[in-house]
Parts: sequence; C-alpha cells; structure tokens
Amino acid sequence: MIINPQVPLHRLILSLSQVLDYVHPSVIDHQQRVAYIAMRIARQLGVDKDQLLDLLLAAALHDIGIIDVENRIRGLQKDDWEEVPWHAEAGYALLSENPLFYRAAQIVRYHHTPWENGCGAEYNGQPVPYASHILVLADRLERMIDRNTNVLDQTESIRSKVLLRAGQQFHPDCINAFSEVADQESFWLDCVSVRIYSILLEQIDWPFLTIDEKTLGPIARIFAGITDATSQWTATHSAGVAAVAVALAERYNFSPREQFLMRSAGYFHDIGKLTIPTEILDKPSKLTPQERNILNSHTYHTFRILDTIGGMPQISEWAAFHHERLDGNGYPFHHAAKDLTLGSRIMAVADVFAALTEDRPYHKAMSQDKVMEIIKKLAGNNGLDGNIVRELEKDYDTIYEICLQERMAYDKEQKRLLANLKILPAVEIH
Ligand SMILES: [Fe+2]
Ligand SMILES: [Fe+2]
Ligand SMILES: [Fe+2]
Repeated sequence: MIINPQVPLHRLILSLSQVLDYVHPSVIDHQQRVAYIAMRIARQLGVDKDQLLDLLLAAALHDIGIIDVENRIRGLQKDDWEEVPWHAEAGYALLSENPLFYRAAQIVRYHHTPWENGCGAEYNGQPVPYASHILVLADRLERMIDRNTNVLDQTESIRSKVLLRAGQQFHPDCINAFSEVADQESFWLDCVSVRIYSILLEQIDWPFLTIDEKTLGPIARIFAGITDATSQWTATHSAGVAAVAVALAERYNFSPREQFLMRSAGYFHDIGKLTIPTEILDKPSKLTPQERNILNSHTYHTFRILDTIGGMPQISEWAAFHHERLDGNGYPFHHAAKDLTLGSRIMAVADVFAALTEDRPYHKAMSQDKVMEIIKKLAGNNGLDGNIVRELEKDYDTIYEICLQERMAYDKEQKRLLANLKILPAVEIH
C-alpha cells in the first residue's frame, strides 16, 4: 500500500536547489546561500510570510534556467549583467507553468534586472516584483564572497562594493536592510556555513506538499529536462525511461497512483548525474577506472537526493536502484533479488531499453532484435528480471511506440519552453 502522501516542501526545494549547484566547487550551495541572504534582508524589510515563501522558492531555484552545465559554470562565475540574462527568462519559462511556482517565477525572471535609480521598477513595460530586487542584491552579494578567505575578513570590502552600486544596481531600501543585518558576524558566518541546508530548514514554516500529479509531477518533469541536458546523448532519456516504466507497470496492474509515482521515479532516476562532470558523461572513448567510479556514483546521489527529502520512499527506491542487479552485482548498494521490489526491477528494464534505443557515444540506436538480444542476455545472467523482459518482448512494438511518442512530445515541449534561448542540445529521435 502506498502511504506518505505528503512531502515537506522545504526539503524538496532545498534538495533540488542543492543538486543544481553540485556542478562546480565554486558554486556549491550558491542558491541556498542566496536564499538565506534574501530571507534575512526580506525579514529586515518586514516582508510578509507568503511573500517570503515565494522569495525563498525563487532564491533557491533562481538559476534553474542555466540548464547546460558549461553555461552554468560560466554564468555563475561571471559578474556580467549582459552575458547571462537569458537564463532568468529560461528559469521563468521553466517554473511559471506550475501553479506552485507561479509567483516565484516572476521573481526569478528579473533577478538580473538592476534598479537603475527607479527605472528597474519596470522592465519592458512589465512591473518587476519588489522581491526581485532583494534577489538581485542577495545573488550578487553571494558572488562577492571569496570562498578562499575568512568571510569575516571580507565584510568591510563587500559592504563598500555594495554601497558603490547603490541606486544603480541595487535598490536603496534593500541596501539599508542589508547594512543592518551585516553588522552581525552571525549573518556572515551563516552565509558560508556548511550547515546552510539545516539553517534554512529551521528558519521558516514551510508548508507540506501533497504528492500528486498536479504538484510533484511538473517538478519531476522539469528536473528530467535538466538532468537530460547534462549530456548531448540523453536529451530525452528520462522521459523515455518514465514512459516505458509506466507502460510496464500498467501491465503489472499498478494503480493509477503507483503509475504516477513510477513516472516521477523515471523522471528523477538519473538526477544524480547532475553531480557528474560533462567530460565524463560525454566522453567518446572508454572511461578510465577512475572515471567509471565517478560515473557509477550517480545512482548513489539519486538515492540520497530523493531519500533525504523524505515522504516519497517508493520514488527514491524505484528511481535509484536502476543499476542494481538481481544477482547482487549491480551498484551502488549491491541489493540482490530479495531487496529489489517489482517497481525497482521494472525501472532497471526500462532504463536499459531506453538507453539501447537511443544514440549513444558507443552505439547508434539499436534494432529490435539487437535490443532484445542484449536484454535477454542480461536476464539470463540474473541481472534483469526475466518475467518483466518477457512482458516487454510480448508487447515490444507498443512499448517502443509509447517510448518514441513520449520522447518526441517531450522534445517538442522543451523546445517550446525554451524557444530562442539556444540552450538545449540538438537531439535526433529515432
Ligand atoms: Fe542568475
Ligand atoms: Fe545566482
Ligand atoms: Fe543511470
């Protein structure tokens, strides 16, 4: 029976925020630190509880629009206003269709819009939320902190840099509020604390989120796109895995709710790849043993990211065990048959199926005969579940078509969302 219908919103958002910033040591926890700074300034300004929540959501995900890794590193390292404005628009596009993030999306949209002595109250004839100006300051402030120097040795220089930009870049009221909180050493020490996640959890009464198709579904789908954009070879992989896993789950009479959880697990299954450098994900030649170790850690990260959110055990298990094998020779937990539920076994088959039917650095998308030959061999070696493989074979054409349709629909949706932003890798669908 499926229980735990609710998930703590703060844990979900902060975990996802954190994984987006794994990409490079220089930006670890960037968005969480920005969320903390924004919250302190907003509190000082007397912003009300609902607005504070939207600001925190926006701050924790404000750079979500930088979905390709190279741009993420470049954009975050630069303090260049002209260079990266598209990612604010992309973040808005990604978030605004979800009612939960609708107001946060407006804030994200203008997180690179300077105050310009009041002209920044509007942009292109649209009002800019006041909260965006808090975020502008919090974001730039976080980037001013040199991570290699004690933060308390930098407070004066950062304060003067901020003051220099008063009126031009930053809203004067936000600067005044910042000046108040910046008197406290604890503010600075919190900003750079390795415990920033726990600090944020304690700061505000975040609501709980019911796990259903309306709320978690779109979030999972956004993260599928972000995960798949980590490599040119996987642009629609997660959508394909999700569709195949659901098609197989249906054949095992999973309830509609379980099918929804399965779909979400499919979207999230490779989220741990956000922690893996692109050079490894895209390497055209054989990986070295060291690189293989790094790559193989992705399902460990998938598990920890999802499991520490709490409240969605089926999703974390089904998502993260897709490289486990029935004989116990998979990774990273070496779970064997007795620990692998039907849902986890289905996901493992769906993942292999989706990967073999896509172009990869090592192979072109494979024919049905070749795909089934490989999958049956894996089942014969007690890696994949033979019964599920038989179900797949019985209905190969239908399942293949479902996978293909879903991948094409997903590709179209991503392109529509991010039209003209030129940040999606080209994908050829077979
Ligand atoms: Fe940004
Ligand atoms: Fe940022
Ligand atoms: Fe994987």
